[in-house]
Amino acid sequence: MVVPGSQHIEDKMYHPPEGLQKDAHVPDFNCYLELYKKSIEEPDAFWKEVASDFYWKKPPTGQILQYNFDVTKGNIYVKCMEGATTNMCYNVLDRNVKDKNLGERVAFYWEGNSPDHHEAITYGQLLGQVCRCSNTLKQMGVRKGDRVAIYLPMIPELVYTMLACTRIGAVHSIVFAGFSAESLCERIMDSQCSILVTADGVYRGEKLINLKQIADEALEKCREKASATVTRCLVVKHHALRTQDGDVANTLSLSSVNLTPVVFPVVQTPWDAACDVCWEEVMGQVSEHCEPEWLDAEDPLFILYTSGSTGKPKGVLHTVAGYLLYTSLTFKYVFDHQPDDVYWCTADIGWITGHSYITYGPLANGATSVLFEGIPVHPHVGRFWEVIEKYRVTKFYTAPTAIRLLMKYGLDPVQKYDLSSLRILGTVGEPINPEAWHWYHEVIGQKRCPVVDTFWQTETGGHVLTPLPAATPLKPGSAVSYHHIYTVFIVGVGQPSSRSTVFRRPWPGIMRTLYGNQERFENTYFKKFPGFYVTGDGCRRDRDGYYWIAGRIDDMINVSGHLLSTAEVEASLTDHGAVAEAAVVSRPHAVKGECLYCFVTLKDCREFNRTLVDELKRQVREKIGPIATPDFIQNAPGLPKTRSGKIMRRVLRQIARNEKDLGDLSTMADPKVVEVLFNHRCETA
Ligand code: PRX
Repeated sequence: MVVPGSQHIEDKMYHPPEGLQKDAHVPDFNCYLELYKKSIEEPDAFWKEVASDFYWKKPPTGQILQYNFDVTKGNIYVKCMEGATTNMCYNVLDRNVKDKNLGERVAFYWEGNSPDHHEAITYGQLLGQVCRCSNTLKQMGVRKGDRVAIYLPMIPELVYTMLACTRIGAVHSIVFAGFSAESLCERIMDSQCSILVTADGVYRGEKLINLKQIADEALEKCREKASATVTRCLVVKHHALRTQDGDVANTLSLSSVNLTPVVFPVVQTPWDAACDVCWEEVMGQVSEHCEPEWLDAEDPLFILYTSGSTGKPKGVLHTVAGYLLYTSLTFKYVFDHQPDDVYWCTADIGWITGHSYITYGPLANGATSVLFEGIPVHPHVGRFWEVIEKYRVTKFYTAPTAIRLLMKYGLDPVQKYDLSSLRILGTVGEPINPEAWHWYHEVIGQKRCPVVDTFWQTETGGHVLTPLPAATPLKPGSAVSYHHIYTVFIVGVGQPSSRSTVFRRPWPGIMRTLYGNQERFENTYFKKFPGFYVTGDGCRRDRDGYYWIAGRIDDMINVSGHLLSTAEVEASLTDHGAVAEAAVVSRPHAVKGECLYCFVTLKDCREFNRTLVDELKRQVREKIGPIATPDFIQNAPGLPKTRSGKIMRRVLRQIARNEKDLGDLSTMADPKVVEVLFNHRCETA
């Protein structure tokens, strides 16, 4: 019997540093237990207290949390603060500027793709820009309830636009600026957006992406499908303004942007005067005051698409009040937010991590954050560490894949920089393997920073399983998660390794439905175990009460009737000193049904040869059991990844099966790796 995580449990616990506990919001485990108990036994009182920090135009009329999680008893619903009216933008900006006197505090240090481009934006400035953008959108015809598609890179205008939407009651639908025209079109059409906001172009590392061209193609596709809804396209001159030493840069006001003359190729931005509106022109003509629209607590806040197993993306819908309460509370506790912090989450706002923990959670707490446009390896592999030193970052939140990537370059790029400002480290997005955890903890955190491994999803809106940095002893390499504010249950379906992580009660930040598709919402998340929200992730609980996320149930591989977690096999491969990163997929097998096909990226200077393959097979067999012995191990100098760093397993599965028609690869960071992997394929075991 193979139990994910069980072989990796280390008895050594990492206890919270005393210095951190002194002023922490949740200073010890007992304090956490009290909070936990209150959230379960008196949810109304618990959430009322959280809500008392925010501004409500009208108070709620009934119970704070109302819900039905049981499909057999009727439609699934969750309501928070029913009867109350409020405004998200007012709470994260006006409240900070006016009531808390934080107008002069820096909200964001924007750090461009090039280290020469940077800008500090205070809460007061942010409010002014957001109001201008609100007035611009209103002038373009946007009204309460309208959907606005946003296809922007990690620039301040992205934050201005999302907050402007929330100020006027429009619903933003941000599409990650690495998606293709087809994907953008599909998302625009699904939620019938009336306006698209984009930029001329952006540099990611050394690669120029012509966003406006892609946006135009998307709109053209929408028109072809005869249901075009977008009437106007608002275009930020980001490439022209911030990265080019061209005409536009010289004629527009550059006061707040630190520009160094760099010669980039001049790209002509396609322009259709009937549809396109220039951001810089209109923003200068409108007022920097705009009254917020008072919304019902359960009015929609935003839609964010996430991939679905059927291939059609799911439009996850979040609403105003619950999302505000939940992201603000989890940000405060999980990163133990303190007024002198400089917080940095390296995610892109195009994903939920950026929505919840770059924009809403931090701003609701009056935090100072870094907003990073770049990539970890440009212009050099020490860029993350350089940025931490530059802004004296205290709380750093990134993905295991980024950690594994940077580990490959050894200690030199880290040791050049002063990381002594760091106090808490976080990870998100996938299970973290023990080797990466240790490297992060020891090399980056210098053994003094707890690593909060936060498990959550687009659908959950915020963290649902996570340690609290001053209260929870950590176990390296697990999804080291004690139950957070809520009750988590794992429900067995057959084998222990296929147990599901499910939740019995809602929390304010859980999605409310899939946009326009309540049926798919109920079928996907609530049908399998009536009475529970089903995350789709495997999980086990060890004897100390810690939860170990074993990856998606659908990433499980069935070898000879035994379910194996790809994450666990990957962890045992990366435990080997020669391996920097590993990805495991299934390949059909005549006798076993499926077998394991492993891609391994070696550390610099390590040679891929038969001896190493044998060693790796032996290692997996020893760590998990003979059933998990890989049939194939292939050298992978690079792995296909999305720009947000997720390994594209679908592509790896197709390479393993020698299926040449790979479909849409537009989200892949570096499509060249595919050809290399096909050339190195293993034909026989
Ligand atoms: O499989 C889990 C994994 O990421 C999935 C959610 O992906 P997405 O909606 O894109 O949101 C990512 C950022 C919250 C989950 O179903 N996942 C996320 N965090 C962890 C994780 N797996 C293990 N450990 C984590 N800490």
